[in-house]
Amino acid sequence: MSKETFFITTPIYYPSDKLHIGHTYCTVATDAIARYKRLRGYDVMFLTGTDEHGQKIEEKAKEAGVTPQAFVDKIVEGPGGILDLWKLMNISNDRFIRTTYDYHVAAIQRIFRKMYDNGDIYKGAYKGKYCTPCESFWTESQLVNGCCPDCGRPVHDAEEEAYFFRLSKYAKPVQDLLESGTFLEPASRVNEMINNFIKPGLEDLCVSRTSFKWGVPVDFDPGHVVYVWVDALFNYATALGYMNDRYKDFEKYWPPVNIVGKEIVRFHSIIWPAMLMSVGEPVPKKVYGHGWLVIDGGKMSKSKGNVVDPYLLADKFGVDALRFFLLRTFPFGSDGNFSNELLISTINTDLANDLGNLVSRTTAMIEKYFGGILPAARAADALDDELKTMIGELPEKYAAQMDVFQPHLALEEVFRVIQRANKYIDETAPWILAKDEANKPRLAEVMFNLVEALRISLICLTPFMPESCDKALAQIGAQSCRGWDDAVYGARSGEIRVRKGETLFPRLDMEKTLAELEAISLPAKAPTVKPVLPDVTIDEFAKCDMRVCKVLSCEAVKKSEKLLKFQLDDGSGTPRQILSGIHKFYEPEQLVGKTVVAILNLPPRKMMGQDSNGMLLSAVKEVDGKEELHLMILDDSVPVGSQLC
Ligand code: MSP
Repeated sequence: MSKETFFITTPIYYPSDKLHIGHTYCTVATDAIARYKRLRGYDVMFLTGTDEHGQKIEEKAKEAGVTPQAFVDKIVEGPGGILDLWKLMNISNDRFIRTTYDYHVAAIQRIFRKMYDNGDIYKGAYKGKYCTPCESFWTESQLVNGCCPDCGRPVHDAEEEAYFFRLSKYAKPVQDLLESGTFLEPASRVNEMINNFIKPGLEDLCVSRTSFKWGVPVDFDPGHVVYVWVDALFNYATALGYMNDRYKDFEKYWPPVNIVGKEIVRFHSIIWPAMLMSVGEPVPKKVYGHGWLVIDGGKMSKSKGNVVDPYLLADKFGVDALRFFLLRTFPFGSDGNFSNELLISTINTDLANDLGNLVSRTTAMIEKYFGGILPAARAADALDDELKTMIGELPEKYAAQMDVFQPHLALEEVFRVIQRANKYIDETAPWILAKDEANKPRLAEVMFNLVEALRISLICLTPFMPESCDKALAQIGAQSCRGWDDAVYGARSGEIRVRKGETLFPRLDMEKTLAELEAISLPAKAPTVKPVLPDVTIDEFAKCDMRVCKVLSCEAVKKSEKLLKFQLDDGSGTPRQILSGIHKFYEPEQLVGKTVVAILNLPPRKMMGQDSNGMLLSAVKEVDGKEELHLMILDDSVPVGSQLC
């Protein structure tokens, strides 16, 4: 009998820059689901790829002085590129599509013509607001504060002769589909789509461009290229051979489960099914819109200098620990706040303490008490019942969560068993049982239960940490008893051979590791802007007496490399002496006569034996790892003695 098929996809990523931890999160999650389905016996097709056309890529290639094709080739296939990243992360995709592949380009032309021939694409004129980075036209009413509702950047007026897709015609069937309850998940995203896009009225969609060249040409109207989202969305079909001869898998695997980030749910749950309805093909089984990884609550971005590099983390912590962390920590449907501290503490708690300890304690005890061979003669006790029940129930509970795309909850179930097993060691105290030869069968039972807790947990963990689970299963001698059907308590009979191996997940020193990460990530960082400090009240702020002062004199302090001594006119009539450590940035003569700002009501301090009554205000920032300082120098028209408020 042929196996049931399962087709799962990631979004195809823009090769406009290196991919970061957010993209890795999506691909790793999809990989874990694909591996889980294979474990369950499905014939899986797992597709990922790259979305290579569009104005943004054209512009970036121009900036780099290369052709768009050369530009994307390097990011996709070059060293340290996208293909290398997925190899490193142990991604088990069965196919990889690039939208610049000939077979895809030809198929998109046929698909476009098919929709034109059936009357769903027509020629018109487009006037609207265009967001270049998002490649999206918007209507005035969709803008947020006059900017792109997706990325918040400015839009510009654009008008061009263009082809339109009759999206409005599909408003009702798409709404019905969304309301069916299973097509789009999590459910919260359904209301968002209906209220924000369907209810205000679905307008026809502009599906061609004439303002740039880097795209799939409309073969019957030269000068027009196909809108990048039409080109991109159909990748899921062309990669199986839809409208092309490169592959022949469309009948076998269609329809897909599309895993996508929340920001592209609109394209996948409205435009995508409407276009499939137009060409007469079944809509996806499901679109799952996962949340985002954010940093300090905000978006990762190059300009903020907080883009997290998966290569660096995988190198430092190991691929499996990184994969595990991403899926254990963040609920898949919601946003998650990424931090290095969280990564390190997850590795320490779950992997080093709970799982790692269980593996090493169990294997060490079996070696010590039984020379590594666990005998078949065992004596059970009521004390074992709770753990045995939990082991027995684990596969079903785990599967129930995996089947609804909740990997973090599936892992929660596994770790409940692992934690219970660690507690069971303390309850049964094997080291006491081992003192009396007569207890051997009882001791063997305790060890057996630990091995079974591990074996079944490891089977469930394999989709998340394939390599580490292979190693751990080998340590407990379970290489040939690790299929889904083997995930049953007691599936092994006879003697069990165990061999303690390397420590799978070493414990990390939090402070030291954070410092090491900081050091290696420095070169990749843009200028760092310090986060805003905790709130102060207006009354607290008003307590700072900051005044405009004139520099009467300034000289270097003897024997100090840093200090300058200022006499200032603060408007009181009595000169005020302030010392400031800014000699590295200014020579005294540059500052005489300047209008500056000082805070006056700080407690007086002695510096190099001299009094300092206040502090000069400067603007300070770290640039390329070096501190840059600019004294606050005001326009001379600001009266001396003015208070800052
Ligand atoms: N090319 C389009 C998708 C076309 S699919 C037919 C695109 N590409 S993208 O490279 O910008 O982003 C693709 C996906 O990367 C997002 O949908 C999301 O799954 C993932 N992520 C990008 N940044 C992310 C985070 N910060 N966090 C989690 N996932 C993120 O959109």
